[in-house]
Amino acid sequence: MKLNSIRIMDKIMSRAMIKSVIVVGQGYVGLPLSVHAAKSGYKVYGFDISKEKIEQLKKGYTDSPEIKKSDLLRLQKKRKIEFTSTIPKLNKQSIIVIAVPTPLDSNRKPDLSMLINACELVATVIVDNSLVINESTSYVGTLRDLIKPTIGKLSSAKDIMYAVAPERIDPGNGKWSMKNTPRVIAGLDNIATQITVKFYSKFCDQIHIASKPEVAEAAKLFENTFRQVNIALVNELSSIANLIGFSTHETIKAASTKPFGFMPFYPSIGVGGHCIPVDPSYLAFSAESVGAEAKFINLANLTNSSMPKNIAERIKIILEGNLNGKRIQIAGVTYKPNISDLRESPALDLINELKSMGASVIWHDPFVTKYDDQQSSELKQDIDLGLIVTPHDQIDFSIWKKSGVKVLDLSANSKNYGWPKFL
Ligand SMILES: NC(=O)c1ccc[n+]([C@@H]2O[C@H](COP(=O)([O-])OP(=O)(O)OC[C@H]3O[C@@H](n4cnc5c(N)ncnc54)[C@H](O)[C@@H]3O)[C@@H](O)[C@H]2O)c1
Repeated sequence: MKLNSIRIMDKIMSRAMIKSVIVVGQGYVGLPLSVHAAKSGYKVYGFDISKEKIEQLKKGYTDSPEIKKSDLLRLQKKRKIEFTSTIPKLNKQSIIVIAVPTPLDSNRKPDLSMLINACELVATVIVDNSLVINESTSYVGTLRDLIKPTIGKLSSAKDIMYAVAPERIDPGNGKWSMKNTPRVIAGLDNIATQITVKFYSKFCDQIHIASKPEVAEAAKLFENTFRQVNIALVNELSSIANLIGFSTHETIKAASTKPFGFMPFYPSIGVGGHCIPVDPSYLAFSAESVGAEAKFINLANLTNSSMPKNIAERIKIILEGNLNGKRIQIAGVTYKPNISDLRESPALDLINELKSMGASVIWHDPFVTKYDDQQSSELKQDIDLGLIVTPHDQIDFSIWKKSGVKVLDLSANSKNYGWPKFL
């Protein structure tokens, strides 16, 4: 073995001894990571700037559907996890994973303020030979052009390694978890890549190594753009089907009999959550930064975001062309079933559209007690129209069935709730 290779191996071996992890951000992404890392033997500091969240986590409470209260309490008792609202000072090399929100600003451009703030905090505690991994979704080049220089400028720590490992978690998905969903990773150099592989191998079944961080960052954005564009396409089909007079769902079922080259997507009132409506705009931003235009992304954004208005117009026709004073109840307002996340939920836009057309709108959601000063109300029968938007498993539709109230199923899946699909 050449001397240079031996030095590299020595470095890998010494840094592979890293035993402690700081996870910056304890949300839907950071908390499950903290729990998996702690269960696989790391000492984890779960850091979040929200004092309220940290207090809740200390008591074992969380919104993350896959995390059990008993696990949170047991791991804390054994001192495998410490939750803290102050970034911990470390005296040994560590892995620091960043998992903070990367939303869009009011112009639908990347809002990187929380990611930059996280890097500035990391710079205050990082020590020599540590590894920084970014799990937050961001534009192509974020690790190299933003994270590394931001930390490097403020910290005098030497030989810091950098890698990306974009999270693909789908909160509430019973089949695909952090463990069995392959993880794409890439380091800025080979040592960072090797240590990152070693870390994730402890709790992920399959690791895919990309040749450079930009590939991993782009793959994350492209996966969600693929979904957003296909959802827009099927929503467009739904509008066409409505005008011509055929069933979109029956058409998708027929097309799905083709054993190759087709994948079903289902129409909906739009896209929601922290990923599908947001990530494509990060890819569009990457495109614009090199003078390219992301035409598909812009069109898909427009198509999906116009769905609540389009559907409200269609509902108006169903209710004899006038929504004034009509009582409408929506079942499920979160952006997808069985979670409490309201971020970017198109149900909220549909409520606003229907209200602006004069309807009186109430909603029922077992995961949301209050939104915009309005409380969730039980499913009612004295209404003019019921709308199935986000059918959580817990919602019992029997009262609507028994009373024969008029119901439209707008849900974005192929399940049958007892009423024909409207979209
Ligand atoms: N939620 C998902 O399903 C999902 C899936 C894949 C990727 N992502 C990406 O992962 C990232 C995190 O998303 P999330 O859903 O976990 O967000 P979240 O809002 O659930 O949690 C983020 C947490 O970070 C905390 N935070 C904000 N700024 C901080 C700072 N400077 N220091 C420490 N903590 C800070 C917030 O208080 C919050 O608790 C985003 O980039 C998102 O796009 C999310």
